[in-house]
Amino acid sequence: MDGNGRWANKRLLPRIAGHRKGVEAVRATVRAAIEHGVEYLTLFAFSSENWRRPADEVTLLMELFARALEQEVAKLHANGIRFRAIGDTSRFDKRIRDLVAEGEAKTAGNTRLTLTIAANYGGRWDVAQAARACFRAHPEALADGAAFEPEALEPWLAMAYAPEPDLFIRTGGEQRISNFLLWQLAYTELYFTDLLWPDFDEAALAAAIESFATRERRFGRTGEQVHGTAA
Ligand code: IPE
Ligand code: MG
Repeated sequence: MDGNGRWANKRLLPRIAGHRKGVEAVRATVRAAIEHGVEYLTLFAFSSENWRRPADEVTLLMELFARALEQEVAKLHANGIRFRAIGDTSRFDKRIRDLVAEGEAKTAGNTRLTLTIAANYGGRWDVAQAARACFRAHPEALADGAAFEPEALEPWLAMAYAPEPDLFIRTGGEQRISNFLLWQLAYTELYFTDLLWPDFDEAALAAAIESFATRERRFGRTGEQVHGTAA
């Protein structure tokens, strides 16, 4: 979700006004995702690199996150949405950590849509924490010469509860992944739009899904194999 600051700048508003408007875009996108039958929606809200921003912006973002958790979790629950958070939440203050834990517990049984918020998340952090947890559980896997398949890490990744994403959407015009779900995006279709996040809405999601529908996903195979026309 990129472009909140530029959205505000264009209107001569403080950056936080863009972040506030961004929360509205989140609401609209969650609604639209449900209408499209999306089962997993993962939003990159705050990266492990965002701490480098000016302290007052970080403070306001935390306040906004806490308030959104306080106000939205009951609504998510009423709509059958399971809420999850991924990332190193140990760096957040207790109020946010408690709200996240309460929200996850309250909505754990819901099945309509799993809404994951990536907060203080980084793809490299995820792979590193998975490796640490895996080797703690299986110290023998570190033995010299022991075979180690990539799949062995997967149960330990932050999003082990979800399938790999089909579609990645980045708003705001930049064409990079910025340390989002690095491992899980290996075969994901990438979609970039110049729309700024606060302008993202139902029509924008529909356009992204339409683009996705035209992609041929071969997972390393040939087009002939995929179409069943291989000799
Ligand atoms: C994304 O918008 C929101 C967060 C990273 C919290 P930005 O704040 O990065 O907006 P721009 O890139 O400055 O427009
Ligand atoms: Mg940005």
